[in-house]
Amino acid sequence: MDTATVGHSVSHDSAARHVDGRAVFIDDLPEPRDLLHAHLVTSPWAHARLGAVDLSACLTAPGVVAVVTAADVPGVNDIGAIFKGEPLLPAEFAEYVGHPVAAVAATTPEAARHAASLARIDGEPLPAVFDVRNALEKEHYVCAPMTMARGDAARALAAAPFRLQGETEIGGQDHFYLETHVALATPVDGGALHIYSSTQHPTEVQHLISHILGLPQAAVTVEVRRLGGAFGGKESQASLVAGIASLLAWKTGRPVKLRLDRDDDMTITGKRHGFLLRWDVGFDQEGRILGVDMQLAAGCGWSADLSSSVMSRALSHADNAYFYPAARIRGFCCKTNLQSNTAFRGFGAPQGVIAAEAMLDDIAHHLGRDPLAVRKLNFYGTGGRDLTPYHQTVEHFRLPAMLEHLERSADLAERRQAIDAFNAKSPVIRKGLATVPVKFGVSFNNPMLNQAGALVMAYTDGSILVNHGGIEMGQGLYVKVAQVVAEVFQVPLSTVQVSSTRTDKVPNTSPTAASSGTDLNGMAAQLAAETIRERMAGVAAERFGVPVEEIEFKNGEIRSGNHHMEFAELTALCHAQRVSLSANGYYRTPKIHFDGKTMTGHPFLYYSHGLAAAEVAIDTLTGEWKALRVDILHDVGRSLNPAIDRGQIEGAFLQGMGWLTMEELVWDKEGRLLTHAPSTYKIPTARDLPADLRVELLANADNPEATVYRSKAVGEPPLILAVSVWLALRDAVASLAAPGAPATLGAPATPEHILAAVEAARATLP
Ligand code: MTE
Ligand code: HPA
Ligand code: MOS
Repeated sequence: MDTATVGHSVSHDSAARHVDGRAVFIDDLPEPRDLLHAHLVTSPWAHARLGAVDLSACLTAPGVVAVVTAADVPGVNDIGAIFKGEPLLPAEFAEYVGHPVAAVAATTPEAARHAASLARIDGEPLPAVFDVRNALEKEHYVCAPMTMARGDAARALAAAPFRLQGETEIGGQDHFYLETHVALATPVDGGALHIYSSTQHPTEVQHLISHILGLPQAAVTVEVRRLGGAFGGKESQASLVAGIASLLAWKTGRPVKLRLDRDDDMTITGKRHGFLLRWDVGFDQEGRILGVDMQLAAGCGWSADLSSSVMSRALSHADNAYFYPAARIRGFCCKTNLQSNTAFRGFGAPQGVIAAEAMLDDIAHHLGRDPLAVRKLNFYGTGGRDLTPYHQTVEHFRLPAMLEHLERSADLAERRQAIDAFNAKSPVIRKGLATVPVKFGVSFNNPMLNQAGALVMAYTDGSILVNHGGIEMGQGLYVKVAQVVAEVFQVPLSTVQVSSTRTDKVPNTSPTAASSGTDLNGMAAQLAAETIRERMAGVAAERFGVPVEEIEFKNGEIRSGNHHMEFAELTALCHAQRVSLSANGYYRTPKIHFDGKTMTGHPFLYYSHGLAAAEVAIDTLTGEWKALRVDILHDVGRSLNPAIDRGQIEGAFLQGMGWLTMEELVWDKEGRLLTHAPSTYKIPTARDLPADLRVELLANADNPEATVYRSKAVGEPPLILAVSVWLALRDAVASLAAPGAPATLGAPATPEHILAAVEAARATLP
């Protein structure tokens, strides 16, 4: 399909190549001459003081060329993303089972793996902490606790006619990108280094390698064509793999590749944070919330990584779509001797939303009221009910109108009745139904990160090359940005190519994260393209002898009255007249500010909205379950590409459903991850899709903010819609319990846990 431009359902630029295998990932690149392969030596202890590291047997093993430990780092041995204190290779302490303490480079991957197994490390085991509750009790944190507050929550709670306390525990999630972490570092002319890295944040990888090796940033180039999935797992954690490959390349003067196999990737890298969520809520007899006191505790693993930022987003989403007249929401980043948890699609928001949604269900059950009615009652609204706990006013709130639409399109009231009637007569199979709204704040919660650059070049044959700071990880960023540029010039999409992302083309970029890849890079590319279009219009006006305002770009042509010229003719003419056909674009998000100390401000340019209604059935004898039907209504603003957006919604929903119902991380008593392969860690597949999945994009939904062609971000928010499935499972279980009994089902709601919850529910009956 060659219709240009925005609003069309154009395929992902690599769709066919993803399927037939021609899309090149780092491990597919032709291998350079003299390439060495690296393997990591990891800690067998969850916590130990490191003693002698004896690598002599590694060094004499066949094919080995070099080994490195902390002592080999020539520059600063630290890859902390926000806080310092995260060594590339530790010199003193190993802090989890799998902690890399040394690395080997050899002529083949097998030789490197074998040599790594010969390392002798002495360590004095130290006490370790694995459990969030335990860490919370001991005040064992990776960063200071935080508080977000508005109004006097304690007073509101004390005065409320009804008051409930509750808690729930939510597990973590492995990213399970198809392409595991990988880097290929090559020394290049003049003492510089070129690194292919599977990273969402090439600039951070570049800056950290420059610190590690003591090189100027300008001497380090990081390049990324595409990732085989990332989901947040490559926002900060690619630095470890790229850093070690670079250190070995630097030491040997040879290209070095480090690719983690699946078991190593799962054992070594961090995951979604598991959370312990607690709430104390005061409300009136209708279920209207009067005051909230929440505690969100995250299991962060051994280091700070991005945890403080993840927690900040969790706190700012613990209101979800609801107005809290008074609130205190506290966050605790608990330190455990496990993998260091990191960004994962939603970045803390899903866990915050779960606190709100579980709390609302508890209120509804306690009062014997319809959970959906209680939700509507608490929606943000006008007249003073529009201020968030972080003091941003909620504007353009679309959920009430969207819910009206979904109630009709999904027959929610009729189906509720039908399910209740079914359950009354069904002893073994029980059904559940739950509707969950999502309000997601778009912009990085750290204002500095909300900027982007792009470089657009037109050639004399009329073809256009776009480069920007964003990373293509499967989400369709490249095709969306190409559509934006094609729109500006009004040329066919096939005219526009996007080249790999490189730190030497667009410098000092932000990670591609926070769902804002298109918002930021699309806007930067649009601005760059408009600069060139203006120059071209000037040349055309002169040639036609008309005022520049009369020049129109349309259908691959430039026109004014009877005059017209092909786009390619005009680029050639510009060149002949010595007019530049390349331009930079730079964008920074307007209006946003946030004070991390008081946790107040206006961190988000706008909100994206979504709604999901899920119907499930459980088998009360086995705990097995099925999603029968899911209806989604999602707000993507004015869609740049409805096909891509729909794919993001479906994929995110299924990924969220996997997290909350199937994927269970299990560690043994020594802190060894037992679920480090697909044999023991179950991710959802196409077969797990709800039998009936209906996804609708909200119509006539232009973003009121001036985003790129009035679109909205889509990458993360729909993951949270899967909370509807979890709540529907709890609803099915609740049908077995005494009215008002508290829910016991946490996440993941695996068949085993559902069965236990069924038994607990039955035990509440007289
Ligand atoms: N979609 C695919 N196919 N693969 C991914 O790794 N990552 C998600 C989301 N969708 C991801 C994805 C995450 S965590 C984010 S933040 C956004 O894409 C990032 O891209 P965007 O900002 O361009 O939407
Ligand atoms: N989302 C994702 N990644 C981030 C964010 C965020 O809000 N802030 C910093 N890194
Ligand atoms: Mo996404 S978790 O912001 O990379």
